[in-house]
Formats: sequence, structure tokens, C-alpha cells
Amino acid sequence: MPAPPPDARSFLGEVVSVVPCGDDGVILALKPELDLPPVRASRFFMLKPEERLAPLIPRPFSIYRERDGALEFLIKVMGRGTKALSRCQPGETVRMVGPLGNGWPTLDGDGPPWVMLAGGVGSAPFFLAIEQALAGMDDAAPVPKDRLTYLFGAATRGLLYDVDGFRELGVTVHTATDDGSDGFRGNVVQLVKKLWDAGDVPRECRILACGPDPMLEAVEDLTREHGLEAWLSLETLMGCGVGICNGCPVETRPDGPMGDWPNAKCCVEGPVFKTDAITLHGRETHEPAKGRSGN
Ligand SMILES: Cc1cc2nc3c(=O)[nH]c(=O)nc-3n(C[C@H](O)[C@H](O)[C@H](O)COP(=O)(O)OP(=O)(O)OC[C@H]3O[C@@H](n4cnc5c(N)ncnc54)[C@H](O)[C@@H]3O)c2cc1C
Ligand code: FES
Repeated sequence: MPAPPPDARSFLGEVVSVVPCGDDGVILALKPELDLPPVRASRFFMLKPEERLAPLIPRPFSIYRERDGALEFLIKVMGRGTKALSRCQPGETVRMVGPLGNGWPTLDGDGPPWVMLAGGVGSAPFFLAIEQALAGMDDAAPVPKDRLTYLFGAATRGLLYDVDGFRELGVTVHTATDDGSDGFRGNVVQLVKKLWDAGDVPRECRILACGPDPMLEAVEDLTREHGLEAWLSLETLMGCGVGICNGCPVETRPDGPMGDWPNAKCCVEGPVFKTDAITLHGRETHEPAKGRSGN
């Protein structure tokens, strides 16, 4: 059975700041009580205010970036968990479990350029990814800025969280909004097709995507249709984050590298999956593996 990563720990982080971001978000900065080695982009932490009883279950958040010894999280305020975190005051403590999950693949400059597609708060795992790619990940050389393109889509301008911060990273940024209030009118999948047609983004590219499920389904279809390598960072519901509760199943592709088993666990086998391994469309053609009882 897949296990949580060996470097994951449970510890406290002191709230340094909670800064509003966009129409409904905050950037929460937490100073961990212990020294952490650098965290790979698109890994995540389970977070919960330590002193508050509700909600009982922590919530998962991607690491947004690291600044001055603090870990920052971009949080879209939705329900009880995100409201509780957004109301924390400096000096309060937050229970942190992590780093969890696998993170993006190594972003290298050798193969086709990278095109990153973010939808709304799906932008959270990309800031650090761009910083790490520009600095050089693992043993790979730094990726030149012109080989990284960031496409950021949202319903409206106010949900393009921290878009100026992305622009300041120096990579090419294009925006798309459903209402046309910023950039291209439409979604990021329509935008990437338009940029391909205009020759502004090479058709031969590698895709990273994070956003709402309908967007990721469209990315899955697009990249399969065009035979592109693509990785999706999924934001399933999660109960535990460490592989115990079975609350985060992702359907595997029968013809893919995980196909023997109908579901992967997003928390310990993801949240990043290659599109040849999983499907967001439901798995109708799976034949149960002999000798296995399911997940
Ligand atoms: C690996 C991972 C990384 C994530 N990173 C971030 C991040 O960096 N920033 C961020 O803002 N959010 C992120 N999320 C999503 C975040 O965990 C949820 O928005 C959060 O758990 C909602 O908690 P809540 O108590 O506020 O909402 P709840 O009261 O639990 O739910 C409020 C509403 O949101 C819906 N909802 C809850 N969780 C999700 C979800 N995961 N996806 C879609 N709808 C959901 C519920 O069905 C309900 O309609 C991530 C999720 C995962 C799995
Ligand atoms: S969240 Fe509990 S098993 Fe994945």
C-alpha cells in the first residue's frame, strides 16, 4: 500500500500574517517551529488552527512559496476550514502536517517548453514551481524564462490571485476570464488553442495544470488528442492526507501504468498525476484485477 512520504511530520506553525488576496482569498504566512528543507512545488500540508475546535478535520493546501523562513499558502475562502484559517491572528498557531504528496515532476530545460495552465486558486502550486524551475530543480539546469509560459484563467479579474506577482517572475503570462474583464474572454483551454493557432506558444510542449475538475477534464482531453505529455495536480476532497481514510480516490486508466488497480489515492500517490495514469472522466472499461479486493 502506498505510504505517506517519510519526510512528513506534524508540527506547529506560528501565524506571521494573513494578507487579503483577490476578491475572496488570503495569503497565510506560517513560521514552522522546526527547520524544514526546501519543499517541492505542488506538495501540500494539512492545516488546522491549533486552538480552535471546529473544524475538527484539517484541510489540504499547496505550498504557495517560501519567504523569510515562513511558508505561505494562498487560500480561497469557501467554507468552515478556510474561514477559520483566514481569521487567524498573528501569533496564533496552526497545526501543520506535511509536506505531503509527490509534487510536480522535475522541470528541466532540455525537452519541449513547459506550459502551465491554472484555473482560479489552482494557481497555488505554480508560483513556487516557476521559482524552482528558474533556479534549477534537482540536478537539472535552470529553465530559461522563455521556455516557461503561464496561462491563468478565472471567472473574473478579481479571482486572478496575485497575477502581478506571477508577472514579476519574468515568465510569459497570459490571462483569461469568463467575463472578459482581464485578457482573453473564455477559459484557459480555449486560450492555449488560440495561442497555438497564433504561433505564440509552440504546439509541441509539456503541460502542467491545476484547477477545477471541468477544466482538468478539458485539459485531459486536449493533451490526449494532441499526444502531449501532461501532469495534473488534483484537488480532491481529503479526510486525512496520509492514506488512511480512502477519502480521495482518483480513477486510474486501465491501459496506464497504474491500471491494475481501479483507484489511486490522491494524497499519497498524487496530488500530481500524469494523464496516461488516470482519468477524470470515470472508468467504464475497467476489468477488476484478479486476486485483488479493490480499494
Ligand atoms: C492537494 C490539495 C491542495 C490544495 N491546495 C489548495 C490551495 O493551495 N489553496 C486553496 O484555497 N485550496 C486548496 N485546496 C482545496 C482546499 O483544500 C479546499 O478548498 C478546502 O478543503 C475547503 O475547506 P472548507 O472547510 O473551507 O470548505 P468545506 O466547508 O469543506 O466546503 C465548502 C464547499 O467547497 C467544496 N469543496 C471542499 N473541498 C473542495 C475541493 N478540494 N475542491 C473543490 N471543492 C471543494 C465543498 O464541496 C463545499 O461545497 C487543495 C486541495 C487539495 C486536495
Ligand atoms: S485523504 Fe485519506 S486516504 Fe487520502
